[in-house]
Amino acid sequence: MKKYIVGNWKMNASQSFVQRWAKTFSELFVPLEGQECIVCPPLPYIACLSASLPDAVRVGAQNVCEAPDGAFTGEVSARMLKDCDVDHVIIGHSERRSIYGESNELIASKVVAAQKEGLTVILCIGETLEQRDDVEKVLASQLDHSIPEGIVLDKLIIAYEPVWAIGTGQVASLEDIEKSHKFITDYVMKKFQVRLPLLYGGSVKPGNAADILNCDGVDGVLVGGASLDPQDFHKIYSASV
Ligand code: PGA
Repeated sequence: MKKYIVGNWKMNASQSFVQRWAKTFSELFVPLEGQECIVCPPLPYIACLSASLPDAVRVGAQNVCEAPDGAFTGEVSARMLKDCDVDHVIIGHSERRSIYGESNELIASKVVAAQKEGLTVILCIGETLEQRDDVEKVLASQLDHSIPEGIVLDKLIIAYEPVWAIGTGQVASLEDIEKSHKFITDYVMKKFQVRLPLLYGGSVKPGNAADILNCDGVDGVLVGGASLDPQDFHKIYSASV
């Protein structure tokens, strides 16, 4: 299985930031066999970032509307993303779940909308600090309710992100990552008879990326803070070989 290195800039960037980031990253970037590099900037910068990066670096979105078009002020549809040459979209990030109250059911409908337009979904799941004693139950419920009926499995990537590890500098131990990844992989295998790409996210940095990427069952990383520094993000990309 190839490794996915995905950057999530969240709501950070500006025109000049995009230009500087793309210039530095493009100078460092050499496509590596068996690896996919995807960067997800805020929506207004998708076209500009995409035009400034080598073709082998894909540009993705951080969210999508569940509806195809119409009176949904402030939203962006999957068709619009596709029209802007986007192939990947993050859905169900914990910040969307907690700050914007996105339920598993809404997330499932966004997955349907995205896949209808041929987008590959990076579906985020993960437990909060309060749910740490019940990790497997929480993950099973998120998998059951965020993945819709009729899912297109070859356009689905799962990202396991313990919420308490996001943006905190607190990384899950390698044992915990392997344990949760094994649980998710087995659960998905039992339910869909397929091994889906499974990424880890939560305070991934250049210093811990190689260890995390070498964990059993880890097919890549979803990187927030460290993806804002093109050199750090490149180090993470290179750490996977
Ligand atoms: P972080 O964010 O790397 O800053 O912890 C990860 C994420 O939110 O996807």
